[in-house]
Amino acid sequence: VDATTQAIYQLHNDAQRLYQHTLLNTTSGEAALQYLHDKRHLTDDIIKTFGIGFVPDDNLLLSYAQNQNLAPALLSASELFLTNSSGEQRDRFAGRIVWPIKTERGQVVGFSGRALDKDNSIKYMNSPESPFFTKGRILYNFDRAKNIIRQTGTAMIFEGFMDVISADMADQKVGVATMGTALTSDHVHQLAKVAKRILLVYDGDDAGQTAARRSIELITNNAKSLEIGVVHLPDNLDPDEVRIKLGLPQLAQSLTQNIQTPIEFLVDDAKRDKNLSNQAQYLQFLKEVMIILNRATPVEQDLQLTRISKEFGTSKEALQAQLTQTLQQKSN
Ligand code: GTP
Ligand code: MN
Ligand code: MN
Ligand code: MN
Ligand code: MN
Repeated sequence: VDATTQAIYQLHNDAQRLYQHTLLNTTSGEAALQYLHDKRHLTDDIIKTFGIGFVPDDNLLLSYAQNQNLAPALLSASELFLTNSSGEQRDRFAGRIVWPIKTERGQVVGFSGRALDKDNSIKYMNSPESPFFTKGRILYNFDRAKNIIRQTGTAMIFEGFMDVISADMADQKVGVATMGTALTSDHVHQLAKVAKRILLVYDGDDAGQTAARRSIELITNNAKSLEIGVVHLPDNLDPDEVRIKLGLPQLAQSLTQNIQTPIEFLVDDAKRDKNLSNQAQYLQFLKEVMIILNRATPVEQDLQLTRISKEFGTSKEALQAQLTQTLQQKSN
C-alpha cells in the first residue's frame, strides 16, 4: 500500500488502542464500561479480545493526531473525524462505544459506534464508505474466524457484531457479520473460499426473516455448492438477546441444534402473518408452498407434504396432486 494508506492504517490502530484504554482505564469510560458489564454481560477479557473501546468527548484522537503532526488532509481522508462548516475537525465517534472493523488480514479500517442511550441519537453509526473501507466487501470478524471456518467447514452469518461476539462466547467461533448492509455476492465468494456450509443466523423479527430469504437466494445463485442452513432462534430474539435472556447454553444449543434446511425455513416462513384456520389464507399458503417445493428434491417434497398433512389434516394425496399440477403448469 502507498504511504498515505499506511498512515491511515496506523492512525486506525492507534485510535483502537486509545479508545480501548479510555474504556478500560479512565473515568470518561466508566459509564460505557458499566453498560457493557451490566447490560450486555461482557467481561473485560471479551472486551479486549474484540478490541472494543469508548470515544470520549474531548477530541482525544484529534489531539493525538495533531501532536503527531499529521496533515489535515490525511485526517480528513481517514474518515475518523467530522468537519463542521467552519472547517473544524472533531472525533467522529465521540460519546459512542466502538467496535473496530478489520480486514481479512486483521488491519483496522473502520469502526462501528453504538450510542449508549439510543433515544437521543441513532443507535449505530459506521465509518463511511471509503477507498479502504468498503462495506460490500468487509465481513466483521472474518480475520479471527477464517481459519476455524476452514477447519470445520462451517461459517455462520449474523446481523450484528454483538451477535458474532455472543456466538464466540458460546464457543461458536465461526461467526461473521455484514456491516449493517445486506449480504453481497462478494461476501459470498469470500466465504465460499473457506466454507462448505453457511448457517444464516438472522434476528427472529420480520426484517431478519426477510434478510434470510434474500440471502438464501443470493447464496444459491452465487455458490451452488455451498450447503445452507437457517438457524431458528426462540421467541423471535436475536442471538445476543438469547444469550442475555436465556443464557449461553441455550444460545449454544440453538446454534448447533435448531437448524432448518432452506426449504423447511421457507415453508415455515410462508406461514408467517397468515391465519391458517381461514380457508382462503390456508389455500394461499399452499399455493406458496407448491412454488417453494418446485425447487426441492423429491424427498424434501415428500417430507414437507407429510408435515403439512399432519399439521392441517389435508390428505397427502391431495397435496401431492396439487404439487404435480403446479409443476406441470410451470413447465408449460
Ligand atoms: P444491539 O441493540 O446493540 O443489540 O444491536 P443489534 O445488533 O441487535 O441491532 P439490530 O438488530 O437493530 O441491527 C443489526 C445490525 O444493523 C447492527 O449490528 C448494525 O450493524 C446495523 N444497524 C442497526 N441499527 C443501525 C443504525 O441505526 N444505523 C446503521 N448504520 N446501522 C444500524
Ligand atoms: Mn462493572
Ligand atoms: Mn435486527
Ligand atoms: Mn439484532
Ligand atoms: Mn441485539
